[in-house]
Amino acid sequence: MMERSFVMLKPDAVSRKLIGRILSRFEEKGLKIVALNFLQIDEDLAKTHYGEHEGKPFFKDLVGYIISAPSLAMVIEGDDAISVIRKIVGATNPKEADLGTIRGDFGMDTGRNIIHASDSPKSAEREIDLFFNRDEMCDYEVPEDSWVYE
Ligand code: RTP
Ligand code: MG
Repeated sequence: MMERSFVMLKPDAVSRKLIGRILSRFEEKGLKIVALNFLQIDEDLAKTHYGEHEGKPFFKDLVGYIISAPSLAMVIEGDDAISVIRKIVGATNPKEADLGTIRGDFGMDTGRNIIHASDSPKSAEREIDLFFNRDEMCDYEVPEDSWVYE
């Protein structure tokens, strides 16, 4: 099923100049970027985005991390994109994440884990609406599609 997921390169990914290498992984897999926004997230947006974690011991540090430097927000489309992207991203703790995943290859600390990705269709819808207007997403076809999908 064609799905859209919300993905965000966190401030450490941007500041460590990993944008190109990370975006390449999604492109090489056959996934399609349909929206991009480079932005400095403010406290309100960070708190709303991670609202499910409010009250947890790491919440304050998480918000501080997310607002500390610019992030790259995006919407990525593909067959079963939400679960495929979570696999590409890897486990929350980069030390435990499999090598070959983004967190496993680029990170060390849970509090500096490089990237966010939606964990369910419901989260994806909420997060996409939080960061993008409908008219900021592009529907387009590329010739490669028929070589990626049967
Ligand atoms: P994300 O939402 O960013 O994609 O990460 P996730 O689903 O893998 O993990 P989640 O449980 O939703 O946690 C959100 C983010 O909070 C930070 N965190 N710190 N110190 C801690 O114990 C801890 N636990 C979570 C991480 O930045 C995590 O990605
Ligand atoms: Mg999460």
